[in-house]
Amino acid sequence: MSANLNARRNGIARAWDLRSGAVVVPAGVHVPVAGTDQYHDFHAHPEFTYLAGVQTPGAVLAFDPVDGWLVFAPVANQEDRVWVGDGESLDAIAGRSGARVEPLQRLGGWLEARRSEPLVLLGNHDLVANPTAYGLQSWAALELDVDDQRSVLLSEQVADKRRAKDPAEISLMRSAAGATAPGHRAAIRLARPGMTERQLQIEIEAEFFRAGAERTAYGSIVGSGPNGAILHSSPGQRVFADGDLILVDAGAEFGAYASDVTRTFPVAARFSGIQRDIYEIVLGVQERAIASVKPGVEYKDLHMAAALGIASGLRDLGILRGDPGDLVERDAHALFFVHGLGHMLGLATHDAGGCLAGRQPSDRFGLKWLRADLPLEPDYVVTIEPGIYFIDALLTDPARRDTFRDAVNWGLVDSLRGFGGIRIEDDVLVTEAGADVLSGTIPKSIDEIEAIRREALST
Ligand code: GLY
Ligand code: MN
Ligand code: MN
Repeated sequence: MSANLNARRNGIARAWDLRSGAVVVPAGVHVPVAGTDQYHDFHAHPEFTYLAGVQTPGAVLAFDPVDGWLVFAPVANQEDRVWVGDGESLDAIAGRSGARVEPLQRLGGWLEARRSEPLVLLGNHDLVANPTAYGLQSWAALELDVDDQRSVLLSEQVADKRRAKDPAEISLMRSAAGATAPGHRAAIRLARPGMTERQLQIEIEAEFFRAGAERTAYGSIVGSGPNGAILHSSPGQRVFADGDLILVDAGAEFGAYASDVTRTFPVAARFSGIQRDIYEIVLGVQERAIASVKPGVEYKDLHMAAALGIASGLRDLGILRGDPGDLVERDAHALFFVHGLGHMLGLATHDAGGCLAGRQPSDRFGLKWLRADLPLEPDYVVTIEPGIYFIDALLTDPARRDTFRDAVNWGLVDSLRGFGGIRIEDDVLVTEAGADVLSGTIPKSIDEIEAIRREALST
């Protein structure tokens, strides 16, 4: 891995083509939890993890065109050793990273020696706000000249490189998806009327960890009944009822890489009529989008095709009225499919580089939460996650009801409030031939899901 990391860093340095100045990439520092003597779960900044190959709290990766790459890493003091342990040794960090490693105390001297040069700041900018956490006495006293414009440019160049995953990254992402699969299978198998969202979350995450996950990639989402219409609903004490759908959006993290998977299934042994109708629309849209994934395809075109599929499906059910193309043109579909089709996936759940430089996110209702706008290339990993939801916050908004008064069968929609939502999400590796679905072993057809539910409820 460290040879690979050296090649990665050299590639970035070539892209930067710096003739002068220096770059620092802080990992971030531990954030205390008030009143506990403990810290929030530490997430190293993905730019640091990508370039340093380690996730050391309080470390800073540094580069200049003459001296090359260097990691400044903290050495545990006696108090650290008493309370949180020794941490990784500098030699161990050097071994994993392949870069030269120096104790963090030398960072101040390294920065002082570059006082007159433009400094690029990537990674976690807490170095400026919280210099003492990195062993610096003060930021102002260093009299450094951070070049903000150059910092943005170099960060974009790192994001460009992070889009296509290398074989080592793909292997970690396969492991993350592999640890996610048993969690979702357990959810579909174990849900019972009377169980709470929290109880199901515990079962899902236990399977992730048993399968090797290092943590969850993001806060697990378990939304039952009406909570399925809250896009990021935290699992709570709501009790599953027989006619509910349960939406589970949860993923394991492995080697700092995320998986991000959603399944929706009934508490009963079968989907009800309207649940089945809407599930079929979402699944059809998702499968067609995955089948369209290949190099050169614009992600936004996939999103627009999904929007059209949803508008058309809802029109066929009598929920929307009019020509599906016109409905999408007016963003009427976005009342029910309000988010984007998906996003880049990698070291972050919403990974860097989703929008090509120069493309601005739209403020259109149907596009403002689209997080990917770029042509797909081999080795990109994206999520494909269409959904249909009955979201009170949108459907009870008088202004939206007025805007879409003729486009929506409001009587039918009002009768479906409380339905919740259906999202189906997979992690898709773009290959020369098309798509390789990393999460593809997790059941999603109606037949597979109903077979698991039937068997579960009969025992
Ligand atoms: N799990 C968050 C998302 O799907 O983007
Ligand atoms: Mn998700
Ligand atoms: Mn997602």
